[in-house]
Amino acid sequence: MSIIIPIRNDMGAPASRPRPAGGSVLTSLPPLSLYVHVPWCVRKCPYCDFNSHAAPGGEIPERAYLEALRSDLEQALPSIWGRQVVSVFIGGGTPSLLSAAGLDELLAMLRACLNLWPDAEITMEANPGTAEAGRLRDYAASGVTRFSLGIQSFDDAQLKKLGRIHDAAQARKAIEMAQRAAPRVNLDLMFALPGQTQEACVADLREAVAFGTEHLSLYHLTMEPNTVFAKFPPEDLPDDDASAAMQDAIEAELAAAGLDRYEVSAYARPGARCRHNLNYWEFGDYLGIGPGAHGKLSFHDRIVREARLRSPDSWMRAALARDGSHVSESRQVGADELPFEFMLNALRLKAGVPASSFEERTGLSLAVIAHQLEAASQRGLLDADPTRLRATALGWRFLNDLQEMFL
Ligand SMILES: C[S@@+](CC[C@H](N)C(=O)[O-])C[C@H]1O[C@@H](n2cnc3c(N)ncnc32)[C@H](O)[C@@H]1O
Ligand code: SF4
Repeated sequence: MSIIIPIRNDMGAPASRPRPAGGSVLTSLPPLSLYVHVPWCVRKCPYCDFNSHAAPGGEIPERAYLEALRSDLEQALPSIWGRQVVSVFIGGGTPSLLSAAGLDELLAMLRACLNLWPDAEITMEANPGTAEAGRLRDYAASGVTRFSLGIQSFDDAQLKKLGRIHDAAQARKAIEMAQRAAPRVNLDLMFALPGQTQEACVADLREAVAFGTEHLSLYHLTMEPNTVFAKFPPEDLPDDDASAAMQDAIEAELAAAGLDRYEVSAYARPGARCRHNLNYWEFGDYLGIGPGAHGKLSFHDRIVREARLRSPDSWMRAALARDGSHVSESRQVGADELPFEFMLNALRLKAGVPASSFEERTGLSLAVIAHQLEAASQRGLLDADPTRLRATALGWRFLNDLQEMFL
């Protein structure tokens, strides 16, 4: 597809030039975030398809991993030269398997190599089974501003069924320790769990809220391919109607507690939204380092998606070889793919995004999706406000259908 995109030249006069094949022209670059992947967990949970690998006893090859991360980052620097990094997310896997000294070294390396915004949000995921008060305090002293704890449930029987390495008492203790250590804490909870009733789901929420929680992520338990649960699904999973009712109860319960559902799975008090994830949903840029990490980077004439080798050992060897072989994929996103990619993210936000950001972030004119916008609006899935791209309540309920209209 070849489209002429009008741009403005330096003198402010309208100009137009043909876009490079499959590419786009961006007049400014979006905010840039950094994702760092830590690929190990004490044990693999039966429902989880993240790129995480069991490290029995929590023993991880920390030195080699930190060296490989440094090498990965240094090789990526030319692609983000001069750009400021607005947020960092250290995810996994279980980043809280890193020693306090290891995490300190990692953050010092990021500060030395990157133009890290002084007020950057720095989130670290932690599993309650690996959280110790002293270590969480040390992580925060090194610069972590936000912990994200994988709580899942406060019901010991559920935690057992989910194969978690911690019980509810450890989860409660981890929340208190994390809240004492850092200014911001998110709790992950899952719902539609085996045999879970709506009352049990709401009891989990109430317990989470009772900690004064300012941010919650609520994930519907999904059966992901190639997991133990996909092969041996729990028998007593709530059906679609029951889990839809649970979703409604969650939204009502949390709204009453002052936590607004601002994204499909994310709830926050005013001012407590996750800046890093907002940047994903607003189609910002992110560099992803570590095994299996994904990235999206914009340049003035193209948008590139990247992925790293998934296997921790292969990624470490390749990153240390410094020959670029740790990057398993690097491809320019075609102009025909950009509208769907943009909408896939933006429509997850309850408030949507300004319509102008479509052009800013994709380099395409909004006219290229005028037909789909009109059709979605007529079906009652998209808000009629021309200044915003925002799903209606109906569109949010049938989000997949709405997003697919932009394929
Ligand atoms: C990387 S983990 C969080 C940190 C740490 N690994 C842990 O589990 O404690 C990210 C979150 O994804 C969610 N998750 C993982 N697999 C899921 C699935 N199959 N269905 C729903 N949520 C899932 C869990 O809530 C989990 O806390
Ligand atoms: S601890 Fe987290 S990342 Fe690790 S297997 Fe369990 S859910 Fe997945």
